Amino acid sequence: MKKAAKITGIGGYVPTRVIKNTDLEKMLDTTDEWIQQRTGIVERHWATDDQGTSDLAVEAAKIAIQNAKIDVKQIDLIVVATSSPDMDLPGCASFVQAKLGLPGVPYFDIRQACSGFIYGVSLANQYLSSGVYKCALVVGAEIQSKALDKTPNGKGTSIIFADGAGAVILQATDVKDETKDPHILTTKLHADGAGAAELCIQAPGCGLGAERITHEMIDAGKIYPQMNGRLVFTHAVTKMPEVLGEALTEAKLTLSEVDMHFFHQANVRINQKICEDMGIPLERAHTTIQKFGNTTAATIPLGMYDAYQAGKLKNGMTISMVAFGAGFTWASALVRY
Ligand code: UT7
Repeated sequence: MKKAAKITGIGGYVPTRVIKNTDLEKMLDTTDEWIQQRTGIVERHWATDDQGTSDLAVEAAKIAIQNAKIDVKQIDLIVVATSSPDMDLPGCASFVQAKLGLPGVPYFDIRQACSGFIYGVSLANQYLSSGVYKCALVVGAEIQSKALDKTPNGKGTSIIFADGAGAVILQATDVKDETKDPHILTTKLHADGAGAAELCIQAPGCGLGAERITHEMIDAGKIYPQMNGRLVFTHAVTKMPEVLGEALTEAKLTLSEVDMHFFHQANVRINQKICEDMGIPLERAHTTIQKFGNTTAATIPLGMYDAYQAGKLKNGMTISMVAFGAGFTWASALVRY
């Protein structure tokens, strides 16, 4: 019998404020047609002024807790993946922990951008499989909208990034039959720091000079995401298939045995290219970019919650999670749900 972790609850949340492509047209000097053709995005959600990233995380977490039919007090580990925390210090998970009323429970903030949720699942899986903890909350949550350049200078990035949160409850389990019992089959994590400058937000930060933030940095737009979109695109379509392949090999599974894929949603053309190259039927890749945009670390759990709500994600299914993003980081997981 093998000790492992299984997903027992999924939750998701998006703010109620919907921003359509047409809302961005004037602001960014773009068009609905360009955004739809080049990214697949139709609309996305932006947080209201009074919402912080931890608020979104808590909404998603509460649904996941209810869905897992556990008492919140059973949670003994919290992992929050985000690139847009409430504050630089302390970590976002500290606010999530306090809002859930879990004093004493340890937490981690994960900073691996779009791959952050899979990194978080991998971390929690190690703790649960080794018996250190029994019940983990893993959240991906972002408020990107408050850090976007909402002028024509930002048209290359502000069209894709958006807000939302997704969460899972992972519980320790004894796996009797590895071919049937729900559990995390494997996770694969990679990174290449040489790509750091290709997708980054430089300020505030201690790598720029004498001060973390100056008026000059603000005026120069260093507080906004800088992205070499084409380069990130070409890396994503190479690294995502590679890391999915690695996970399949390790789990001794073939692609046809994976019922549903949860690919990071940065651009619908990235995922179409991956499906085409790998021979994955498009309907097996759950797509949410048209309505949620790119919610970075929240994308994969939010997508899972969307599929769960639609009745598409069912117990017993084998699913994949695959992401590529800033860092560069890329990662995959195979899960029997
Ligand atoms: O989640 C983190 C990982 N991120 C990603 O995976 C993002 C991957 N990259 C992408 O999805 C795409 O690169 C973008 C959607 C961000 C950009 O699309 P692109 O096809 O790579 O456009 P581009 O940046 O190469 O720009 C092509 C043209 C340029 O005009 P010229 O120089 O050819 O005249 C841009 O100025 O399109 C122009 N352009 C726009 N036009 C209207 C760029 N953004 C826009 C826009 N509206 N929003």
